[in-house]
Amino acid sequence: MAPTTSSTASELRTQQLSDIAASAGTPCYVYDAGAIRDAYATLDGAFDGYPHAIHYALKANSSLAIVKLVQRLGSHADANSPGEVDVAFRCGFRPDQIVFTGVGKSAVEIDRAVSLGLLAINVESPGELDRIDQRAIAQGVRARVALRVNPDIDANSHPHISTGLKSNKFGVPIDEAPALFREMSSRRGLQPVGAHVHIGSQITTLDPLRKAAEAVVALARDLKSEGVELQHLDMGGGLGISYDGSPVVNPSEYVRALVAATRGSGLTVAIEPGRVLVGPAGVQLSRVVDVKQFPGAKRFIVLDAGMTELMRPALYNAFHRITPLVRRDGHEVPVDIVGPICESTDAYARDRNFPPVDVGDIVVVSDVGAYGAVMGHTYLRRPLPPEVLIDGDRASTSLRASWRIIRRRQTLDELLALETE
Ligand code: LLP
Repeated sequence: MAPTTSSTASELRTQQLSDIAASAGTPCYVYDAGAIRDAYATLDGAFDGYPHAIHYALKANSSLAIVKLVQRLGSHADANSPGEVDVAFRCGFRPDQIVFTGVGKSAVEIDRAVSLGLLAINVESPGELDRIDQRAIAQGVRARVALRVNPDIDANSHPHISTGLKSNKFGVPIDEAPALFREMSSRRGLQPVGAHVHIGSQITTLDPLRKAAEAVVALARDLKSEGVELQHLDMGGGLGISYDGSPVVNPSEYVRALVAATRGSGLTVAIEPGRVLVGPAGVQLSRVVDVKQFPGAKRFIVLDAGMTELMRPALYNAFHRITPLVRRDGHEVPVDIVGPICESTDAYARDRNFPPVDVGDIVVVSDVGAYGAVMGHTYLRRPLPPEVLIDGDRASTSLRASWRIIRRRQTLDELLALETE
């Protein structure tokens, strides 16, 4: 959404972001509803009529207005905690549209998930299989379960967000899956309905995703020959986006590869996309609060936003495009763009070429719609920032009116409300 041309549309967008910064204050998050709709339509359309379900991974951005927007598009939901299940309900998803994943589900969580009659509880281990069975029997129901398999496939992503290798804690080794499916079929409290695989996030090549899909399709085929009939294959999420302009997998091509792998089985394909749906739709606005130059050494641009508002650079050394909202004349020079937090890891970019800025200028950080606001925290007693949703016709000249605050800034009193002296 950052202005890249001098077209009227981009001038309008600049004016709109400047209005939002003035009105909502900085730092803040701004999302573009149209971009989310477009991303959803691309994925959905690429299935080309093949039976499928898009389970939006709420973890990427679970602000109510965003989840509601995605729900209205016809999405189903992927929840990773009881809190996300409740958010999904509040936003109108039915139990049979929700899959519930989580590498460690407590007894209370299992009990509740079973009682809700979700589309599938994704089972992570033989022990969990047992516990779900026991709770379902106690409740007099059969829980719909899918087994999460770990195919030992390298997603070639950042190690902190890779989940499909034997060395990762997720799922059960795929070789053990046939025996566990047989076991599940024999349990009174369980109805095995699917196989689930999710090998990581921000995956930028098709090959690992295709291989993972082929592995679960082969598993389903073997199970069928033994009389275990599944209903869906949940291929997880993980499709990456281009943070820096380098090539990534085309979302339509990704979907077509999954359908090609699955078609022979006739099973429904479920996917759990998060980042690809909402990532590019969000920017963070902040203001420059200081500019300082160490003689003969570094130049720092200090923002009023930092790792409390956006963890990704500090956690994964993640790259985000950063631009001044309004560009001033002058040469770019290498700078460190840092936040105000008392941690050296609190930097959005290091040695990045950047045009001149002054204190008070607004800076736009791109592609933060996924894993941005949701991962924010209140270290240093910094209240959570507001979130804004721009909606309406992007080509229209009435852009200024078409945004609203979907989460207001937390107050310090709200932040302290849980505590006593
Ligand atoms: N399904 C499961 C089981 C997952 O664990 C995840 C993400 C997704 C779906 C959605 O993946 P996506 O399509 O968004 O890649 N905080 C990290 C990303 C962590 C992803 C965790 N799991 C980041 O900022 O890059």
